[in-house]
Amino acid sequence: MSSFYITTAIDYVNGSPHLGHAYEKVLTDVIARFRRLMGDQVFFLTGTDEHGQKVQQSARKKGIPPQQFADEVTAEFKAMLPRLAITNDDFIRTTEERHKKVVRAILQQLFDRGEIYLGEYKGFYSTRQEQFLQEKDRNPDGTWPEIFGEVTAIVEHNYFFRLSAYQAWLVDFLKANESFIFPKYRQKQVLEFLKEPISDLCISRPRERLEWGIPLPFDEKYVTYVWFDALLNYYSAVADKPGLWPASWHVIGKDILVPPHAVYWPIILRAAGLPLPGGIVAHGWWTSSGAKMSKSTGNVLNPLELADEFGVDSFRYFLMREMNVGQDSDFSREQFLVRYNGDLANDLGNLVNRTLNMANRFGGGVLPAAEVSEEPEAELKALWERTHAEFIPLCEGFQFHSALERLFAFVKAINAYIEKRAPWKLGKSAEAADQARLRTALATMAEALRLASTALQPVMPGTCEKIHGVLGLTPRGSWREQLAWGRGLDGSRVAASLVLFPRPPKL
Ligand code: MSP
Repeated sequence: MSSFYITTAIDYVNGSPHLGHAYEKVLTDVIARFRRLMGDQVFFLTGTDEHGQKVQQSARKKGIPPQQFADEVTAEFKAMLPRLAITNDDFIRTTEERHKKVVRAILQQLFDRGEIYLGEYKGFYSTRQEQFLQEKDRNPDGTWPEIFGEVTAIVEHNYFFRLSAYQAWLVDFLKANESFIFPKYRQKQVLEFLKEPISDLCISRPRERLEWGIPLPFDEKYVTYVWFDALLNYYSAVADKPGLWPASWHVIGKDILVPPHAVYWPIILRAAGLPLPGGIVAHGWWTSSGAKMSKSTGNVLNPLELADEFGVDSFRYFLMREMNVGQDSDFSREQFLVRYNGDLANDLGNLVNRTLNMANRFGGGVLPAAEVSEEPEAELKALWERTHAEFIPLCEGFQFHSALERLFAFVKAINAYIEKRAPWKLGKSAEAADQARLRTALATMAEALRLASTALQPVMPGTCEKIHGVLGLTPRGSWREQLAWGRGLDGSRVAASLVLFPRPPKL
């Protein structure tokens, strides 16, 4: 069994979870479930990023200590996970002792080796982005871009990490590991970014300006700052769990790829003498009428409301079917309803109902064995073989939207098979050959439905379980074995009916 360690970004606790956060958890969960079904020993980590200026400010505004503020928001992020059927194995908070201990140990080690030095910083500071700015960040007319909010000029002593010393190494590494970043075109963007010389990374803030952080072990007048703290969560969570580091994949949004994950993180690991992760999956943004959904713009959607209204599996299906991992997707309730009513209620929901209905009407509620294999059966089976052969590699390559597209084409084909076989007509015929065809049709539609629902398991785990339940099936063998045509349901007693996707009350 190979070990597969996967992480999400850790979320800032300066606002409630929204669709972007939910998507990343669902995507990572689908990958984690898929790998588990493929036989890997999976460890799935998520968590919250709790230090920094914004949290300090928000807590002050509310008149409560930052820890209490972070506790309250973290509770919301944690509560979201079971409601989205997320199967994380651990949840790390950057305010936990286990994390702070590792961050301080690594900082000390790097400081002792001369990788961290005290320097003077003259520059501009954006409180909103918690970021130092340079002249080149200004608008052509000399003003600061809106996203930075209020910008102030400052001079202060701070600690710097020798990022620039590793630039050439990183370029070589990325050239030698072409699949380090998914999608591949983003790796090219990183190499493009690395064509310009990079500066050393300022990793501290004086405590008089920022109290809410991890104090530097070698100079307690400073706290470490943003990325040096946050990125290390991936390692601190498993530092005491042998065999887990390095991570297989870090799943993040494209906004935090360059430079944090694609430049700072590999270099921090390299400098600390730790192995590098297998790779980084950078997904795109959910937008609303073209604009990124974010806390600061306010166009956010509460993912839990949708999951509660339409069921968590429908929500997961929509996210995975709609988003081509890496690209952006626009969210609208209308589009959600198109998928819900079309793919789920009409295609899958109807298929389940017809299968149960006919097995009850023509088979007394017990599934028969297939007896003949004529063209309609051969065609459907051949389509399954093709779908199956494509489905697994597409999932391995994070192409879930295409994998689901193929799978739902198969679901449609099962419905078409039923139309072609028309059991309601065969049922009227007294001929033995037609009766054999009828039994075959009942067996075939049930078998095809079993296969489709089994393949759906990583994305729609509850739905898969319900369908197996009404088919009277107790899955046996590995997932791969279950995906083979002809494992047979004959003799299974089916349920009377199952409403999977009730019609929404309003459009
Ligand atoms: N705390 C940092 C990450 C540190 S990781 C060591 C952070 N937090 S965040 O709360 O702003 O974002 C968390 C994740 O959600 C990021 O990967 C980000 O890309 C993702 N999303 C936030 N808004 C998003 C959308 N509108 N759409 C999709 N995902 C986006 O960044």
